[in-house]
Amino acid sequence: MTISNIEDLRREARRKLPRMFFDYIDGGAFSERTLARNTEDFDRCTLEQRVLVDLSTRDLSTEFLGARYSMPAMLAPVGFAGSFWPDGEVQAAHAARDAKIPMCLSTFSINSIEEVGAAMPSGLSMQLYVFKDRELASEIMQRARQVGVTTLFLTADTNVSSVRERDTRNGFRTSSSLKLGTIVDLMSRPAWCVRMGLHGRLLLGNVKGKAGVPANLMAQAAYLSANVDASMSWSDLAWLRREWPGKLVVKGVLSVQDAGRALDGGADGVCVSNHGGRQLDGARSSISMLPEIARFVAGRAEVLLDSGIRRGSHIVKAIGLGADAVLLGRAYAYGLGASGRKGVRQAIELLRTETDLTLALMGMCSIDELRANRGAVQHRFTPGPGELAPDVGHLLDGIAREVQASH
Ligand code: FNR
Ligand code: LAC
Repeated sequence: MTISNIEDLRREARRKLPRMFFDYIDGGAFSERTLARNTEDFDRCTLEQRVLVDLSTRDLSTEFLGARYSMPAMLAPVGFAGSFWPDGEVQAAHAARDAKIPMCLSTFSINSIEEVGAAMPSGLSMQLYVFKDRELASEIMQRARQVGVTTLFLTADTNVSSVRERDTRNGFRTSSSLKLGTIVDLMSRPAWCVRMGLHGRLLLGNVKGKAGVPANLMAQAAYLSANVDASMSWSDLAWLRREWPGKLVVKGVLSVQDAGRALDGGADGVCVSNHGGRQLDGARSSISMLPEIARFVAGRAEVLLDSGIRRGSHIVKAIGLGADAVLLGRAYAYGLGASGRKGVRQAIELLRTETDLTLALMGMCSIDELRANRGAVQHRFTPGPGELAPDVGHLLDGIAREVQASH
């Protein structure tokens, strides 16, 4: 099958993966409205077409999280990735490293921090879930430092785990043993079974052997989801700030108020995110919240964005509306499920090509040029407090142009 876009990788992943894992990647909370809106809302932004510009030399490289990367994108933390493909996290890290973009490893990874650290000596961030057992969080931070991780992402939107009805149906993260239906599901993908049987591992690498943590994936998934510390609050950010000397990003910020609290707590960055529509169904899309959050942060910290990115034009829109970079979640998880490292590479390169062409057709040759010319991306989102509605803003711009032209 020809792979022309992320949707093709999604279809391929659906063909290759047992339903339990495909649904885990693809699904969202409850009615999946926020999941859908995350991507749909990119259509409420428009791009300015400009022509007859010299486009012979183009460069997407840009700086974020303290280093220069080949494009303003990184791989998001995706739990259980090593169950989509053997050594999934290490394979994704190889693809990211080859593409010269960073990656953030999930606490819930199959490969351990040490294994992924060895595959990616620079550009690796660590995502932290704080468990009721705080010792475990401290240990994860220490191990991350030891392998050279410089940025920690605190995921703040999962104090409680939402219901993803597809997972409930498949018994993933809700049941600690394999049901007959799950066994039939796994057997329906014999190539996956053989691949995982020969080369894979189905245990979470960062917590294996820990007291109280069960010894099979289904049970681990259920146990860990139930053991994330629901009492984590803004006051705990101070504890983390003391424990973690590197850059600290709060992931899951979807309001100006929470961006303010993250900054007050000493965060170096916020990641505007609704967890890819996997937590609060009914939340606004990430892209629609970006303009007001970026305006509020105003360069005092880095602004990252995820949720809904499936096209290079989405990356251009996010940067145009104020993000320093984006995180790719499902876009690369589909690639991993479709064909391992090769699929992740395809996902990154498809998005790179689309980003480059989108920018070029807007008459621009670099990300820096886009940052200097943000007006080339217009949006129609509900305005934040003190902002003009976009339509009123455009109307006033139009009147100003008319007045100028008539003089
Ligand atoms: C996630 N996400 C996630 N986030 C996190 O902080 N820790 C984690 O372990 C996971 N696990 C995870 C698994 C899977 C299968 C998906 C799809 C997502 C959320 C992820 O980092 C990111 O916020 C979203 O994926 C972004 O939305 P898109 O790009 O998938 O639409
Ligand atoms: C998820 C958790 C692991 O989104 O963050 O599935």
